[in-house]
Amino acid sequence: MIKKCLFPVAGYGTRFLPATKSMPKEMLPIVDKPLIQYGVEEAYAAGMKDMAFVTGRGKRAIPDHFDVSYELETEISGSKKEQRLLGIRKLIENCTFNYTRQIMMKGLGHAILTGESLIGDQAFAVILADDLCLTEGQGVLHQMVKLYDEFKCSIVAIEEVPMERTSSYGIISGKSIRDNIYRVESMVEKPEPAEAPSNLAVIGRYILTADIFDILRNTQPGANGEIQLTDAILAQAKKGSVIAYQFKGRRFDCGSVDGFVEATNYCYKNLYKEI
Ligand code: UTP
Repeated sequence: MIKKCLFPVAGYGTRFLPATKSMPKEMLPIVDKPLIQYGVEEAYAAGMKDMAFVTGRGKRAIPDHFDVSYELETEISGSKKEQRLLGIRKLIENCTFNYTRQIMMKGLGHAILTGESLIGDQAFAVILADDLCLTEGQGVLHQMVKLYDEFKCSIVAIEEVPMERTSSYGIISGKSIRDNIYRVESMVEKPEPAEAPSNLAVIGRYILTADIFDILRNTQPGANGEIQLTDAILAQAKKGSVIAYQFKGRRFDCGSVDGFVEATNYCYKNLYKEI
């Protein structure tokens, strides 16, 4: 059973400057709900109650969001507006929220390693909240937890991307096990299309077994000085212990302006309800 979900939220979000100068990218709202709340809701729906955040400087709005705001709540108490807080209240009442800080932004792999003290020696989920995943039925993480129960190894979520976009993603190749499921054999970070082993791109949902921490500790920083999560997962894949899962649902890359606007329009049209 996967109990904990790790949210690396320490990045600078430079693609959204100046909006992200003093506000975390993960607090940008898709219509009326911050990206990070969509992520926590997905983890909760997948059965997780321990939410662990790797934060950084200037990210205080995140712990404030997952806390009670007494003044505001007293002010709107008894009015229709209270309904707007039902979703976040449910999370606050049912989950615990723990935080640690990444002091230097040395990449996603380093952020995950920083989260070790919050996770301990157990398999855990990771959500990159700027990848917003929407589904008709079970959430993407829920789908992945079911696979973990079957395979008991690390799971990465993948989707097909146009070949010319491979240089924006970690790209896998592997052996098909059955529909939508591959055993990962190789994984390359941001390859040019000519070097890409496929067009199957890893997106921001993972289930990782705890040996990833030791691997990350021994992973050398890449050319840009960052510790790449891809390199650590590749080490697991070489032992045959990584599954790639082509999930059911739709992903919006809200870390880019185009994806953010697309998600906003989609949610406004399909999910938003005026109160
Ligand atoms: P991104 O590269 O998409 O986020 O990292 P970023 O660096 O914040 O965005 P840009 O490119 O400057 O606009 C993927 C995820 O990993 C986290 C980010 O917060 C994001 O959720 N991250 C990245 C960390 O927590 N620490 C890091 O050192 C790097």
